[in-house]
Amino acid sequence: MDLEWAEVVAHRQIASQEFILTLFAPKIVASAQAGQFVSLQISQQIQPLLRRPISIHDVEEDKGLLILYYHVVGVGTDLLSQYQVGEKLSVLGPLGHGFDLDITDSKVCLIGGGIGQAPLRMAARQLKEKNNQVMLIMGARNQDGLQALDYYHREQLELYLATEDGSLGTKGFVTEHMNDLAQLGVKRIYACGPKPMLRAVKATALAQNIPCQVSLEEKMACGVGVCLGCTCKSSDENTPYPKVCTHGPVFWAQEVNLDD
Ligand SMILES: Cc1cc2nc3c(=O)[nH]c(=O)nc-3n(C[C@H](O)[C@H](O)[C@H](O)COP(=O)(O)OP(=O)(O)OC[C@H]3O[C@@H](n4cnc5c(N)ncnc54)[C@H](O)[C@@H]3O)c2cc1C
Ligand code: FES
Repeated sequence: MDLEWAEVVAHRQIASQEFILTLFAPKIVASAQAGQFVSLQISQQIQPLLRRPISIHDVEEDKGLLILYYHVVGVGTDLLSQYQVGEKLSVLGPLGHGFDLDITDSKVCLIGGGIGQAPLRMAARQLKEKNNQVMLIMGARNQDGLQALDYYHREQLELYLATEDGSLGTKGFVTEHMNDLAQLGVKRIYACGPKPMLRAVKATALAQNIPCQVSLEEKMACGVGVCLGCTCKSSDENTPYPKVCTHGPVFWAQEVNLDD
C-alpha cells in the first residue's frame, strides 16, 4: 500500500453524472490488481472529512497511470468532479483483495450493474490477455450509465446490455441475460453491483454450478480495516463478519451472505 500525491492527467465527463479520471500514481499502479480500490482524500477542508473509496477501473502500468470511473452521488464525488488537469490529490492504495484471475483458455462472464461496472475493465483486459473468451453483461438505470464501454467495443468483446428504462440494450435488468451461462460454456463469473443484483447473480451461479466471485460495494469509513464500519456476513466460521475493505471487496459468492 502506498500514499501518493497523484496528479490529474486527464478528466473526462462521459455522461451527466459520470467521469473518467486518470491520475499519475506510479507506485500504486505498480502493485495494483484488478478488483482492488484506492481511497481518495478529496478535500483539504473539513468536509468531506473521510477519504472516499473508488475502484481501480484500469491501469496503464508502463505510464504509471491509474484510471478511475465514478458517478457523482454526493459532496465528495461532486468535489472530485471539479478537479482540473495538473491538480493533485492524495491517493492511498491499492487496497483490499481483488479478483482471482487464475483461469486461462476458458469462457468467463463479467457482470456489472451501475457503478459496479467500474472494477471490471481491468479484470476483462487481464482475463483476455490470459486467452480467455470474455463475455460481459452490463446494466444501468439508463443509457447515461452505459457510457464507459469504449474499451470493450474496441476489443470486440461479447457485450450484452440492459437498462431499466430500455434506452440502451434490453429493457430490464442484467438478469435478463443470465439464463444460459452454463450452456454457453461459461466457467467463471465475476460480478459487481448493487446487492439485489449480486443476490441474483449468486443464485444463478449456484443453480448453474459456475464458480463466481462478487465484489461488494459496502459503505466504508477508514478503508483500511480499523473502524469495523464495513463488515458483512460470511458462512466461514473462522471469519463470520469479514471486513469488506480488507478481506474483500471481492469474495467467492458462496462465502458471503447477501440476504440483507
Ligand atoms: C470498495 C468500493 C469501491 C467503490 N468504487 C466506486 C467506483 O469505482 N466508482 C464510484 O463512482 N463509486 C464507487 N464506490 C462508491 C463511492 O465510494 C461512493 O459513491 C462515494 O464514497 C460517495 O461519496 P460522496 O461524498 O459523493 O457521497 P455522500 O455524500 O457520502 O453520499 C451520497 C449518497 O451516496 C450513498 N453512498 C455513499 N457511499 C456509498 C456506497 N459505497 N455504496 C452505495 N451508496 C453509497 C450515500 O448513502 C448517500 O445516499 C465504491 C465504494 C466502495 C466501498
Ligand atoms: S472501512 Fe473501516 S474497517 Fe472497513
